[in-house]
Amino acid sequence: METKTVRKTGMARLWELAMIKKGLVVMSCALAVISTATAFLPFVAIWFIIRELAAHLTDLSAADGAYLIRMGWLAAGSAIGAIFLNFCALMCSHVAAFTTLYKLKLDFTRHIASLPLGFHSANSTGKLRKVVDENIEKLESFIAHQLPDLAGAIAMPVITLILLFLFDWRLGLASFAPILIAYFIQMIAFGNESAKTFIKQYQDSLEDMNNAAVEYVRGISVLKAFNQTIFSFRKFHEMIKNYGKFVSSYTDSFENHYVLFMAIIQNVYLFLIPLIVFLAGGAADYAEFAMSAVFYLIFSLSLYTPFAKVMYVSSLGKQVADGIERMDKVLAVSPLPESQTPETAREYSISFENVSFTYNGEGEAEAITDVSFTAKQGEITALVGPSGSGKSTLAHLIPRFYDVTGGAVKIGGVDIRAMANDELMSIVGFVFQDVFLFKQSVMDNILIGNKKATREQAIAAAKAAQCHEFIEKLPQGYDTVIGTKNIHLSGGERQRLVIARALLKDAPILVLDEATAFADPENEQKIQFAFEELMRRKTVVIIAHRLSTVRGADKIVVMDGGKVAEQGVHEELLKAEGRYSRMWAQYNRAMNWSIAAKGETVHA
Ligand SMILES: Nc1ncnc2c1ncn2[C@@H]1O[C@H](COP(=O)(O)OP(=O)(O)OP(=O)(O)O)[C@@H](O)[C@H]1O
Ligand SMILES: [Mg+2]
Repeated sequence: METKTVRKTGMARLWELAMIKKGLVVMSCALAVISTATAFLPFVAIWFIIRELAAHLTDLSAADGAYLIRMGWLAAGSAIGAIFLNFCALMCSHVAAFTTLYKLKLDFTRHIASLPLGFHSANSTGKLRKVVDENIEKLESFIAHQLPDLAGAIAMPVITLILLFLFDWRLGLASFAPILIAYFIQMIAFGNESAKTFIKQYQDSLEDMNNAAVEYVRGISVLKAFNQTIFSFRKFHEMIKNYGKFVSSYTDSFENHYVLFMAIIQNVYLFLIPLIVFLAGGAADYAEFAMSAVFYLIFSLSLYTPFAKVMYVSSLGKQVADGIERMDKVLAVSPLPESQTPETAREYSISFENVSFTYNGEGEAEAITDVSFTAKQGEITALVGPSGSGKSTLAHLIPRFYDVTGGAVKIGGVDIRAMANDELMSIVGFVFQDVFLFKQSVMDNILIGNKKATREQAIAAAKAAQCHEFIEKLPQGYDTVIGTKNIHLSGGERQRLVIARALLKDAPILVLDEATAFADPENEQKIQFAFEELMRRKTVVIIAHRLSTVRGADKIVVMDGGKVAEQGVHEELLKAEGRYSRMWAQYNRAMNWSIAAKGETVHA
């Protein structure tokens, strides 16, 4: 992927992106320069008019009327021409900007589609949306507005330089001096490292505050239930206040710079008039000197506009660059490496061979350490163990949400990294703890599992997953759109729908991370029956939170702290009197206790 080789940052990277539509950008800059130059012409024309009038002050009727009218037209024409040229420049730059944005967004979307599934578990859709909608979008103002403005502003000193020597270089220099000084003030204020870190901090804290706001609104019911309203609101309020303080203290730090900057930039006569007064005394030809002075007095007024436009280029440029950096960070995440010569699995047993895995890369604590076991085809392998022992992590490694950091996961003896991604996806069906349903009909949600399946097949899958009953009770049955008003599915129902989806997919391997919400004994038993039918010849890896589910498994792998503590069948493990037998004893005690408790209440 071309974007992968990109290592540039900051303005260099912005420049590189701007050059994607080089022709249009160059054209736009050229037009902007011509427009800036044209914008000076009215001032020159006015000066010619004044000079002509001044020459005939004693008898104005002697002035060349035709010449004056020509100059008048020149002033008006060039003023309009400058606006028109600027319009053309902006036209080119906008076409360039939006074409570039379109390309970047397309590249970005393609890229995130190629990333490991695990990337999406770790990065919220909200965050990615912000990168596309806000950060990439910022590039628009840079290419469409700032670049042509910058080109015009760079051309300005050149034009000034020419005009500088036209009449009197001393006056020329004086009219240019405020701009130079103001520019240096700006350089000092915005050009340093602390300004850069501020923009980053500013964006981060803005993001934090937005997240806090969303969280606050989302959690409002919980907060209310726990009578936390005032307290938690105060916390949120505090966050906003801190943010405000942070921003205003930073703004305050610019106060002096800014006042000075404005005072100088808006007082173009600051240096010019004292100098004119000073030089006037020693002028050889007083009339001619007066005319030059008038020229610079008019001309210096035109300097401010183009400069004012670029006043913010450097600070805005940095903001845009920071946004692009956020995009580049995502682009720098490598897509799942795909084998050039993919191998195909002929059978569907899964073997973990000395698998180690770390979520956060080298040097971090391992979530999985040296795990080895085999889940045979046609068998049910259950993963059990305390919370945080790495069961879900192991399950996610099978469909390659993440790549192992050590060892290998093999299907039918083939390393899953050597298989084509599409192939792996087609042979592994999975249901994880965080189920996702589309805002579509129940039927469509099931059919995602297998686009070619018929309605009848989908209903059969729903029946097998114990969904049929509750679906029938929905207002429009299978055609009820999920997520619409008054349609609410429980956690267990949602997961059963996703199970139906996985069953319809009918992949030879099924990975199931059972939700706790799913632990409804009656349904569980029903599902188990259905599964037994469907699981023949399949490889099933199931993470069960209820040991009753586990009991019938062909193999039980007991996880503890990311390692395999024990493995075997139920009876074996009981005999071994290890971790599993303790868990089993505890489980039974809990069962008996709840029955006893129930019994007591009945008698009471
Ligand atoms: N996305 C992630 N990034 C970093 N660490 C993670 C991530 N997901 C899990 N972990 C860590 O990996 C370890 C194993 O977590 P895992 O989710 O596999 O446990 P589990 O056995 O499925 O627990 P549970 O029974 O509660 O579902 C934990 O220490 C957890 O903090
Ligand atoms: Mg889990």
